[in-house]
Amino acid sequence: MKGFANRINSVEEYYFSAKLREVNQMMAEGKPVINLGIGSPDLAPDRAVIDALKNTAENPKAHGYQSYQGIPELRVAMAEFYSREYGVSLNPQNEILPLIGSKEGILHISMAFLNPGDQVLIPNPGYPTYSSVTKLLEAEPVFYHLDLEKKGRPNFEELETWDLSKVKLMWINYPHMPTGASGSTQILKELIDFAKRHQIILVNDNPYSHILNPEPLSIFKVEGGKDVALELNSLSKTFNMPGWRIGMLCGRADWVEAVLKIKSNMDSGMFLGLQKGAIAALNLGKSWFKDQNQEYSNRRNLIWKLADQLNLSYDKNSTGLFVWCKTPEGKSPEELVDWLLYEKNIFITPGKIFGSEGNQYVRFSLCMPEFKILEAINRIKS
Ligand SMILES: Cc1ncc(COP(=O)(O)O)c(C=O)c1O
Repeated sequence: MKGFANRINSVEEYYFSAKLREVNQMMAEGKPVINLGIGSPDLAPDRAVIDALKNTAENPKAHGYQSYQGIPELRVAMAEFYSREYGVSLNPQNEILPLIGSKEGILHISMAFLNPGDQVLIPNPGYPTYSSVTKLLEAEPVFYHLDLEKKGRPNFEELETWDLSKVKLMWINYPHMPTGASGSTQILKELIDFAKRHQIILVNDNPYSHILNPEPLSIFKVEGGKDVALELNSLSKTFNMPGWRIGMLCGRADWVEAVLKIKSNMDSGMFLGLQKGAIAALNLGKSWFKDQNQEYSNRRNLIWKLADQLNLSYDKNSTGLFVWCKTPEGKSPEELVDWLLYEKNIFITPGKIFGSEGNQYVRFSLCMPEFKILEAINRIKS
């Protein structure tokens, strides 16, 4: 055996992949762990979605390979979703590519645009996959800071003083995971100007746009967005379908085609039943979002209570599926995480896994029913 590829040393196993093994082991031993760590929606998809999947599975003709670009009907449903929800017009023929979750899109986009040695601007804190994929491709992550007092605005004044000549891509994400910073049209405008000036491709990773966010935004709604940006979107959080693995890449046809060139060499089209279920989800009306957000809002109120009990500070104006909490000066977030897990059987995420700017923070997910959060509150009281 002549050894693994060098790239394997550039990354570690994804935090949750390893940590959830431990949490699952604790549960197998009978420990009643309340998982407030991972953002995997526990709520069910709509009935129409499940029926579409079931009915398609009954069709003997539904089980063959599918088109690499998804069925036309799915791309049309995605285009209509963009039109209805963001006021953005996309051509379903060539400006939309269905994905097996947006996470795979991060890899495919990076493979389509990055050469070894290229630099990539990545938010700190941020979704760890941006930097791990960058490193796997022998490109270099360059981390930028977000101003949480200003809805997560990057510090453009500082960025402009950097040598950006090797920067090819910039990842952005609003509502931002993990901080919940909402972003704004003004910030997207500044980002588009910045990207134009420095010839950087912006990628707006947009999976949380409909979660506790009064104003869902797409970068394409902002003038010039289509010239410089791609956008990832996902059904995972919006429609409670994380295990279905359905996302989409949107943007200008030549860039989407480049990503398809990579992707079509690695995987094939999704099972037809998943595509039909996705269409049913994308066609859901406003009441879907209203009900879902009411539930998340109730849960968030309880998480705020839990955070108060633990003397943590947080921003009540934040958006998205998580509550991002700062630990008091001198208190170690890791000690808190361990104490909660091993003494109280409550799992939360240490902020440091999202980057050095997360060192003083912990993250609570809203993916547990109210009675479980109440139970967590009671466990801490005792
Ligand atoms: C910021 C961000 N982007 C992308 C993803 C991946 O989502 P998907 O399920 O569509 O692959 C996640 C999942 O947690 C995320 O938090």
